[in-house]
Parts: sequence; C-alpha cells; structure tokens
Amino acid sequence: MKPIRKAVFPVAGMGTRFLPATKAMPKEMLPIVDKPLIQYAVEEAVAAGIVELVFVTGRNKRAIEDHFDSAPELEAGLAAMHKTALLEAVRNVIPPHVTCIYTRQPAPLGLGHAVLCAAPIVGDEPFAVLLADDLIDADTPATGQLIDAARRHDGSVLAIQNVPRDQTGKYGIVSGRRIDARTARLQGIVEKPLPADAPSTLAVVGRYILEPRIFDLLRATQAGVGGEIQLTDAIASLLQERNVYGYQYEGVRYDCGSKAGFFAATMDLGRKYHGLGIPDEEPMALADDD
Ligand code: G1P
Repeated sequence: MKPIRKAVFPVAGMGTRFLPATKAMPKEMLPIVDKPLIQYAVEEAVAAGIVELVFVTGRNKRAIEDHFDSAPELEAGLAAMHKTALLEAVRNVIPPHVTCIYTRQPAPLGLGHAVLCAAPIVGDEPFAVLLADDLIDADTPATGQLIDAARRHDGSVLAIQNVPRDQTGKYGIVSGRRIDARTARLQGIVEKPLPADAPSTLAVVGRYILEPRIFDLLRATQAGVGGEIQLTDAIASLLQERNVYGYQYEGVRYDCGSKAGFFAATMDLGRKYHGLGIPDEEPMALADDD
C-alpha cells in the first residue's frame, strides 16, 4: 500500500443540533475546554503522520480557515505582552511541515458526496477521513491505529465500535469475520438500519482509511438513506472487489454531534487534561452548629 499522507475532513454540515450556538459559527469550532472540535481531529491526523489536510467546507465555514491560518496581529499582541505559552499555542496549531487545502461542497448532498469533492486533491493515493464530531481520546491516535491496520492488511479500514442495538439507526453497521482480537474482514455494511434489520451491533465511527478506488464507486453511487449520497453505500461496493476491514480501536469515543456526548467530552477532558471539576474527596464546608 502507498503511504497514507492525506486526510479529508468533511466540515460542510449545518450543525442544527447546536442552534443557536451554530447560527453564525461552524459546529466544528465549538470548543471542548479550550480547543475547537476540528483541532482535536487535526492533531490526531498530524500525530498519525498526515501531512496534507483537505477540508471540504461549505457556506459559513470561514472561521475554520482563519483558525488554521496565521494571525499576525494576535501574535504580535501576545509577543508584546510576553505571553509566550499562549503565543506558542496560537502559532503551533498547524506544524510547518503540514499543508491545509480547502475545497467547497456546493450543496449538502451527503457524506459520500463531500468525500468525492476531495477527489481532485487526493488523487490516486489511499487517504484518511476524519469526522470531527467523533472525538476519540486515545493513547495512540485512532487514525494512527487505523493506518497501521491498513498497512498490515493491505486494504481499507474503518473504525468500529459495539453499540446498543437500539442505536443502530444512527450509524453505518457492518458484518464480517473476525481475523484477530480487534480486526474483522467486512462482508457487508449498511447505513442506519433499524435495530431489527441490523446485521450486527458493530457501528462505524468517524475514522476511515480508504483506497482511491472509492472515488470511482462514489461517482456511481445513487442517493440512499435520507436522500443523500452515502459513503457507506460506496464502501458496500468497495468490499465486493477489495478487502475492507473493521478495526476496534483502543480509546474512548465521544459523539460530540450530540449534546450528551459533547457534555461528557467536556467533563472528561476537562478533568483529565486541565484539572477542572470538583474534586471527589472534598466535602462542602458545613457551618458549625454551636
Ligand atoms: C456518518 C456515517 C455513518 C457513521 C457515522 C459515524 O453518519 O454516515 O455511517 O456511522 O457518521 O459518526 P452521521 O453521523 O453523519 O449521520
């Protein structure tokens, strides 16, 4: 397999679940503690060796481009105030060896269509896809784990996770044969099946390593669930002709596209990385009763 150097970030979605917060701001810019969601995904990709970041954006997404650009006035201000740590945090959002490329999805035609918009930039190479809504806190970045699996098995790899059966309607659901503790060779994949129709409870999480053949298959994919061109449907075609694997990554995934997941991520990451929250052992002071 050719090296995996490029990652696609579909960021054109509307974020209606977080209105009014997302009325004038992309949902990917909502912060978990002090970093926007999209930066967590970008840092994960960069830590996995990705050097070209392809953002598929849409209307009202300028803030994402500004976030990953230099900010000369802000940097000069922080330098003048000797706020060195903040200056580094602002400057090093994207390391110098990494390039950002932006393209637009002209209409909300689905995740598959968004990925296809990146085809002219990705070209004939395997690539990663990261959905920033899924924040994965892991010792080894989830994208890195998937890249290793893709190299080992020489095929496309999707991150998978077991979910309660009543949730299958929120995910792509896979079926396959287990080949080792974490990996299954996929035999089928279906987008958002009803619990009764789901072939398993193994759900696709928003991390993919895909071979470029997916672009041809996406071009031939008709609108599916929700009237959208689904990445899942093109993957269903891909696994007819190539090896596609599901990989149960190590790490904790937060569905930050939902309020409950967003809240849990804020609490957990706030505690774990920022020392925030109420310490368990500290009882509230009681007034003396004399
Ligand atoms: C998308 C994919 C779905 C996948 C999910 C992971 O759905 O279509 O197959 O399981 O991401 O988060 P969405 O959440 O955009 O509806």
